[in-house]
Amino acid sequence: MTNLIQPIRGMNDILPDAIPRWQHLEAVTREVLEAYGYREVRFPVLEKTELFARSLGEVTDIVEKEMYTFVDRNGDSLTLRPEGTAGCVRAGLSNGLLHNQVQRLWYAGPMFRHERPQKGRYRQFHQIGAEAYGLAGPDIDAELIVMSARLWKRLGIAPVTLQINSLGTPETRAGYRQKLVDYLTLHQDKLDEDSKRRLQSNPLRVLDSRDANVQALVRDAPSLADYLDDESRAHFGALRGLLDASGVTYAVNPRLVRGLDYYSRTVFEWSTNRLGAQDAVCSGGRYDGLVAQLGGRPTPAIGFAMGLERLVSLMEEAGVPAPESTPHVYLVRAGTAAEAAGFLLAEKLRDALPRLRLVMDCGGGSFGNQLKRADRSGARIALILGENETKAQRVGFKPLRNSAEQVELPWEEVPSRLAPWLN
Ligand code: HAM
Repeated sequence: MTNLIQPIRGMNDILPDAIPRWQHLEAVTREVLEAYGYREVRFPVLEKTELFARSLGEVTDIVEKEMYTFVDRNGDSLTLRPEGTAGCVRAGLSNGLLHNQVQRLWYAGPMFRHERPQKGRYRQFHQIGAEAYGLAGPDIDAELIVMSARLWKRLGIAPVTLQINSLGTPETRAGYRQKLVDYLTLHQDKLDEDSKRRLQSNPLRVLDSRDANVQALVRDAPSLADYLDDESRAHFGALRGLLDASGVTYAVNPRLVRGLDYYSRTVFEWSTNRLGAQDAVCSGGRYDGLVAQLGGRPTPAIGFAMGLERLVSLMEEAGVPAPESTPHVYLVRAGTAAEAAGFLLAEKLRDALPRLRLVMDCGGGSFGNQLKRADRSGARIALILGENETKAQRVGFKPLRNSAEQVELPWEEVPSRLAPWLN
């Protein structure tokens, strides 16, 4: 066992015991997204590196230091997608889905970032994202937020809290940026190394620094809210009105800037205090400039993505029960005739009860050993088929999780006896 190949740091195997919770999260999310008219789109995990450099911003953490980039056999620079928005826009443009149309799209899958792994932060992680195109007004911003609030309710994972902010347009942001740089330059000695670097490259990111001294400094910094253009201010006001009317509680956080360059106007983040430092479970915002930046006609756009690992942890934390995945029935067979007949019986039961989870013992052995395996499988019922039962087209029906007696039934009666045990 010395030369076992180790998994890659920050990339996890998701094992069968954990899967029911993942599937539940995925199924409920899909149901909610589709209830609001979102349709699934699937696009590649690999894209040209240029797509991400142009969308996310050259001086963002992701593009500067977190991408899995390599040169393929044709000499092209490719990157494993660090997020889904850029690929979604690219797929929309490549297939003519965005021009002069309203589209509500969703996607799910793995994303890759070479970050420092810790609880809730991985190098391969999974997102479900939703993106809406062709809608410029604040109603779609509000609807996306209301939809995510419904999702938390459906999943039973409150409390998650919502922060919102408006980043204005690129022009208002450029004006504000200069004011911020002037202020931060005056107080450079109080900045940590990371913020000093960001002051040069991407000063707005200093606003969401986690360093306590920087946070104190930023509290007195000029606020982006004071520099918003009239249209952005009206958009944000209308969004707040719609959220208030929908009963969604939120906090306005003027320091919420997000780590990607494509945002404009509305940004938002749902977070929790149950998971430690990696507290954002769903984040997004408006990116009205991105479609044109990637070569399309100007198209308003907004979306969010949620981190599935974090939501699964939150479901565990909140004690949301995982759906049952153990078999309902374990079928044991002994004797040559019973072995063949067991196949037949199993298939008849699967025909009659499509939701039945039936495991047939394979590999043989004594009844005693097979029944031990039946018990270990977690099944509720053992069906027992020996030579005598086979001849009579009957089967032993043995409840494994209560003290009810074993009974013998004709095959045709088994489906109706099993029906109450299925969930
Ligand atoms: P993001 O904030 O980078 O935004 O990621 C969205 C969510 O993915 C986060 O809130 C978090 O739950 C999860 N996440 C991010 N990085 C990791 C990681 N290393 N390990 C585990 N979970 C992680 C985006 O990706 C944008 N594309 C969202 C968006 C869609 N904006 C508009 N449309």
